[in-house]
Amino acid sequence: MERYYLTRTTTSDGYALEVQEVDRHDPLLIPILNELDLLTYSEGTFSRYTLGALLRYGRIFTITADNLVIGACHCLRSFEDPNEVVIFNMALRPGWRGHGLGTRFLQGVIDRLRNRDTRRISLLVAAQNHRAIAVYRTKFAFQHVATYPNEYNTGQEYFLMRLELPTLGGEGDPDPDGPVS
Ligand SMILES: CC(C)(COP(=O)(O)OP(=O)(O)OC[C@H]1O[C@@H](n2cnc3c(N)ncnc32)[C@H](O)[C@@H]1OP(=O)(O)O)[C@@H](O)C(=O)NCCC(=O)NCCS
Repeated sequence: MERYYLTRTTTSDGYALEVQEVDRHDPLLIPILNELDLLTYSEGTFSRYTLGALLRYGRIFTITADNLVIGACHCLRSFEDPNEVVIFNMALRPGWRGHGLGTRFLQGVIDRLRNRDTRRISLLVAAQNHRAIAVYRTKFAFQHVATYPNEYNTGQEYFLMRLELPTLGGEGDPDPDGPVS
């Protein structure tokens, strides 16, 4: 677990940050995830029932700071391509945004998905969500795949973005048995 300092001037011991894969159905997480969602979007993404279904049949990742859930990432596996994971939603609690934590969180999620035979990760992001797009495109090289003009019947444009993951041990990857430099 790493310790993280929000500012350079902090005199505290920082926060213990941890990215976790929620691999069991924990109903106590539902109100925590619901609150995080309502702090983020004016129109809630979830109900307790969709969160319950995602906990059981999807995959949720959390990032905690000193054991407080400060962010969540909700994933589904595609029916069209079981090697593709769709990030349905990703959010940090408001006060924790803009400090590099979203980037760290997504890196942790990608690392864990890579270990689960995931070949590609897709997501939809609002075209005007410049910060999120900056994270996906600049930090991780997600590619723009398509533009959907009215995905949720709100008249708002969404981008489909995708990240292809190299296979472990595939071409171009370092040889795990090779010499250690
Ligand atoms: C999207 C989110 C998870 C990103 O996490 P974060 O911790 O805020 O992002 P980071 O601090 O790691 O990185 C943000 C990057 O975007 C850049 N950025 C911020 N605003 C920007 C803008 N308007 N245009 C372009 N780049 C921008 C920052 O400069 C930073 O890059 P840098 O580290 O090179 O300076 C978080 O902001 C969030 O929860 N937002 C609300 C929910 C949301 O929009 N989720 C995405 C749904 S698809």
